[in-house]
Amino acid sequence: MSGTRHGESKEAFLARQRWADRRGVLLLGADGMLGRAVAGELRGRGWGFAAPSRREFDLANARTLERATTWREPEPPGLVINCAAWTDVDGAETREAEATAVNGGGVASLAGLCFSWEALLVTYSTDYVFDGQGSEPYQVDVPRAPLNAYGRSKAVGEEAVEASHADWLNIRTSWLYAPWGKNFVLTIRKLLFEKPSIKVVDDQRGRPTSAQHLARTTMSLIDRRMKGHWHVTDGGDCTWFEFAREIGRLAGAPGRVEPCTSAEFPRPAKRPAYSVLDISETERAIGEVPDWRANLADVVARLE
Ligand SMILES: NC(=O)c1ccc[n+]([C@@H]2O[C@H](COP(=O)([O-])OP(=O)(O)OC[C@H]3O[C@@H](n4cnc5c(N)ncnc54)[C@H](OP(=O)(O)O)[C@@H]3O)[C@@H](O)[C@H]2O)c1
Repeated sequence: MSGTRHGESKEAFLARQRWADRRGVLLLGADGMLGRAVAGELRGRGWGFAAPSRREFDLANARTLERATTWREPEPPGLVINCAAWTDVDGAETREAEATAVNGGGVASLAGLCFSWEALLVTYSTDYVFDGQGSEPYQVDVPRAPLNAYGRSKAVGEEAVEASHADWLNIRTSWLYAPWGKNFVLTIRKLLFEKPSIKVVDDQRGRPTSAQHLARTTMSLIDRRMKGHWHVTDGGDCTWFEFAREIGRLAGAPGRVEPCTSAEFPRPAKRPAYSVLDISETERAIGEVPDWRANLADVVARLE
């Protein structure tokens, strides 16, 4: 492929040349909620990629990871996007070692492979690495103090990339949703068509994130050769109750959403009361991000 594509900046052209044309792209976790969105972005750009399936590798097992990522091209991948993770937040409370083997050990192995390939590692983390007790958006350099086992497992992954010699981009995100997969938007819509009313917690505040917005923003950060920790979410913030009420309104669902407290819904893993990630640096780099209501409307119109 030669020459810039119509409307493509010189910067994006150079990035594509390096990541997609000369060196391959490896996508892990392509069947997950975010992985599907990233695969769509890559296809939309015409970037070929390899995406080994879950059956072919276990991120927690360095041997299967290495085998599944054995590169058949003359050169190893130049870009690795890791969307695979242990994401069962409550399950991690009783199986923390397993969650950490995936989210910590797996990411460490991957960073080692990326270093040997001279590839950029893009991986994802969570608002749950912070203490959730704040009242102002968490900036990227706030010290980690996770409240639960899942947060601790992701913090181990963050420490692993920081300690690695690879080039890395770690994107923290929160409250992911998409037209597919297992997520809050699909669950609430279903419940609001099945039940006359549901209760949703109104004492936890955060930032919803459209997986497609996150996938697009990931590519923008890669184009700009950004490295280190970044925060990517939709704009604005809300409680789970406010989020659910808007889902019902947009879906035209007959059920009512009523607010309640977290105490009324005890869960195995502690949830942060205030979990708003600061996205101002990201907005300075890529421009203002759409408000969650706009991204949600787009997703609700395309729910599977
Ligand atoms: N969902 C959220 O609200 C949220 C919030 C903050 C951050 N994040 C982060 O965002 C990223 C993407 O999350 P997501 O919601 O898209 O996750 P997801 O839908 O649960 O997808 C994760 C993918 O990883 C695969 N996977 C799990 N364990 C694996 C292992 N040991 N080896 C290989 N693959 C494995 C899963 O396959 P199987 O399902 O077949 O096991 C699935 O395809 C993750 O890093 C997550 O921690 C998510």
